[in-house]
Amino acid sequence: MHHIPVLCHEVIDFLKPKPNGVYIDGTVGLGGHSAAILENSAPDGRVIGIDLDVEALAIAKGRLGDFGGRYSLVNGNFAEMDVLLERHSVHVVDGILFDLGVSSLQLDTPHRGFSFNHTGPLDMRMNVGRSLDRTSEETTLTALEVVNDSTMEVLADIFRRYGEERFAKQIAGRVVQARQQEPIKTTAQLAEIVKRAVPQKASKVHPATRVFQALRIHVNTELENLVSGLDVAIPLLKSGGCLCVITFHSLEDRIVKHRFQTLARTCICPPKTPICICEHNPSVEIITKRPVLPSGTEIQQNPRARSAKLRVARKL
Ligand SMILES: C[S@@+](CC[C@H](N)C(=O)[O-])C[C@H]1O[C@@H](n2cnc3c(N)ncnc32)[C@H](O)[C@@H]1O
Repeated sequence: MHHIPVLCHEVIDFLKPKPNGVYIDGTVGLGGHSAAILENSAPDGRVIGIDLDVEALAIAKGRLGDFGGRYSLVNGNFAEMDVLLERHSVHVVDGILFDLGVSSLQLDTPHRGFSFNHTGPLDMRMNVGRSLDRTSEETTLTALEVVNDSTMEVLADIFRRYGEERFAKQIAGRVVQARQQEPIKTTAQLAEIVKRAVPQKASKVHPATRVFQALRIHVNTELENLVSGLDVAIPLLKSGGCLCVITFHSLEDRIVKHRFQTLARTCICPPKTPICICEHNPSVEIITKRPVLPSGTEIQQNPRARSAKLRVARKL
């Protein structure tokens, strides 16, 4: 299983890994970015790699094996990074990376149910499997339950909110109609229902793209995790350390952009407040005024990179 790390040179340029440095890869996945950080912080830089997915961590362990004792892998949620690191006696770090979204492993493994390109059970949970490192309860909600048990209004809201799907209402209506005949159990069934619900040629991408994205975000509470993850990350950084965040759609990018802006501001009083009363101190400097995008060559070599955006903030 292979996953080409996205914007990897750019991440290394910002993180500037150094010997003795300690770095958190909050979404270690199959270990691509972690391997690059370890290579660039030789001989003794360290990486703590966190992921919700135990299957990914098993592969990352194989990929990072050559780096000996310089890395630790932790099964958990980056939103609870502070608690997870406390258990590993780490209190401050030199840099943090979040490379959001799904990995090639998750997308290309049919039984994980993430993709309309493979027939599999409607699952979409990132945190399958168990580990003693967990701080929170296991997510048990699957896409199967969401699709078969939610009301039409809730489904439409999920498709609109997390997929920015124009035909949310029509699709939700078709889903409810179809499940009255038989439960919708597979990715292929759902993809077919969505395809029939939207006008032909309404979209350049597969018609089920937005619905699958929406369900995945909902099942894994991805946006809530991102908000909490950004807030726990900044206090863990040493002064001068960078937080790099790679996003893959506008909902994520908006959250990162606005959070960075708030953290960088000297005043967060409501507009038109005559004098500043907030006493807010900026905690970061925004390094990327505009997001960094992959080059044409990178997109050619790795089409998955095409929607990636990298934003970086440096702790003051
Ligand atoms: C795009 S992949 C990361 C790929 C990785 N950078 C590499 O080079 O192989 C995203 C990973 O983040 C994980 N993930 C998503 N949300 C998470 C969260 N809140 N906490 C921990 N891991 C998360 C997913 O399980 C997935 O393995």
